[in-house]
Amino acid sequence: HVSASVPAAPAKVVNVAHRGASAYAPENTMAAFRLARTQRADMFELDVQETRDHELVLMHDTTLARTTNVEEVFPERAPWQVADFELAEIRRLDAGSWFGPGFQGEPVPTLGEALREMRGSGLGLLLEIKAAELYPGIEHALAEELRRHPYWLSTNRWERRLVVQSFNWQCMRALKGILPWVPVGLLGAPAAERLPRVSQFADQINPPFHGLTAEYVAQVHALRMDVFTWSVQDPAIMRQVIAHGVDGVITDRPDILHSVLAQG
Ligand code: G3P
Ligand code: CA
Repeated sequence: HVSASVPAAPAKVVNVAHRGASAYAPENTMAAFRLARTQRADMFELDVQETRDHELVLMHDTTLARTTNVEEVFPERAPWQVADFELAEIRRLDAGSWFGPGFQGEPVPTLGEALREMRGSGLGLLLEIKAAELYPGIEHALAEELRRHPYWLSTNRWERRLVVQSFNWQCMRALKGILPWVPVGLLGAPAAERLPRVSQFADQINPPFHGLTAEYVAQVHALRMDVFTWSVQDPAIMRQVIAHGVDGVITDRPDILHSVLAQG
């Protein structure tokens, strides 16, 4: 008889544009998200924080200083914490000029805008709740916003139209309690002995690529969680983490990752 041990086709590795295609356009702006699509990413990543008037905006740092002209517009408001500004104030800022003159006037998007504009792009969304400890209850604000955009809530572990991730694992546990079918990822690398416990609520473990091993990826997979690793810019390292068996690679250069993946 003929043995039927046909190896399973390798699952497709997900190409995630980190803060959008942030090597080529200012991070966490609509320009970077649109470019992620042009460069054939599968998902785009963004960072969510909360303003003083409880609006959700996209910003990586907990201050506005690095990626906007806030120091010019509000010189007296150091240290320019996101949490100390109202949305109307943040909307006066330019989040593009620091990156290059071609992006002058690019605004800080609200989460709602990104959800509205990127719906129908075909891209999935890897949504990071940044510095959740500064924004008690932000998971409730997020759930409320997502309910206004039900397209994104039509997600699951396999389709991954939306995945929510955070370095704050308690926040992810709380979000799972509110929206149980939305996949959640833990940023960082929980010790192997901690993995069974976190697998009770987490769907992904999203570690930095430094020190990532095929053995760790296998340990995560054995508990039915996925691994998305970050932030990988170098094609040689992209190939290495793919060989380790990761499910997704988070990169500022989705165009480079696309060609690495196309080469098989
Ligand atoms: O998506 C992973 C990555 O975004 C986590 O680090 O600092 O870029 O938000 P950071
Ligand atoms: Ca992030």
